[in-house]
Amino acid sequence: MRRKLVVGNWKMHGSHKGNAELLAGIVGARPFACDVAVCVPFPYLSETAVTLANTDLRWGAQDCSAHEQGAYTGEVSAGMLAEFGCRYAIVGHSERRAYHGESDQVVADKAKAALARGITPIVCVGETLAQRDAGETEAVVKRQLSAVIQKLAHCVGEMVVAYEPVWAIGTGRTATPEQAQAVHAVLRAQLKAATPRADTMVLLYGGSVKPDNAASLFAQADIDGGLIGGAALKAEDFVAICRAAG
Ligand code: G3H
Repeated sequence: MRRKLVVGNWKMHGSHKGNAELLAGIVGARPFACDVAVCVPFPYLSETAVTLANTDLRWGAQDCSAHEQGAYTGEVSAGMLAEFGCRYAIVGHSERRAYHGESDQVVADKAKAALARGITPIVCVGETLAQRDAGETEAVVKRQLSAVIQKLAHCVGEMVVAYEPVWAIGTGRTATPEQAQAVHAVLRAQLKAATPRADTMVLLYGGSVKPDNAASLFAQADIDGGLIGGAALKAEDFVAICRAAG
């Protein structure tokens, strides 16, 4: 039996005041029957770590460098994230792939760098609408995941995988539970061929998850929780989604 996980990806949103209110709303709603985490912008990691210390809530970053240290202006290493108590680092989000040209290889390197510092990478995969319409969904997600599997070798079982169809992100157009489950089953099968731990691995769905559609998505056999964008910015909605996972 896999324990469900709900992760809020705040993307580039937040302020000292707003974060304090949002976190207070989540902290005050405990306990949850699932694992809950927030992935916040880098500058807010410190205050998030302080606020969530001594709770069972987890936190993480939205990216991490593939490099350990050095002349990489603007980058943040996994070692630095570890110093702030990060449990997770999202890697390969479609916004990073699209706006920052991150290749499958770079994503795999980032996942490896995170694991080397004890941080669980949440590896995002997903197809665009054009790729779905062309019948390429399975090939695209398998290619994206394969690069990470090859790089992580015996550590494959330690990552979290998030399926996020690009056409569902921030659009209000959610994949149906059946569409999402079909891709999750493909990913689970691919992981099974790579690690004996595939059945215990957490596979998240992301893309316009809201309080009113979360339960039906999370009820699918291979969907173990969600990676939540817009709805993670309002405590009431995020808490409702966490409840749907429990
Ligand atoms: O990482 C989260 C996803 O990109 C989903 O974002 O819930 O706003 O569609 P969304």
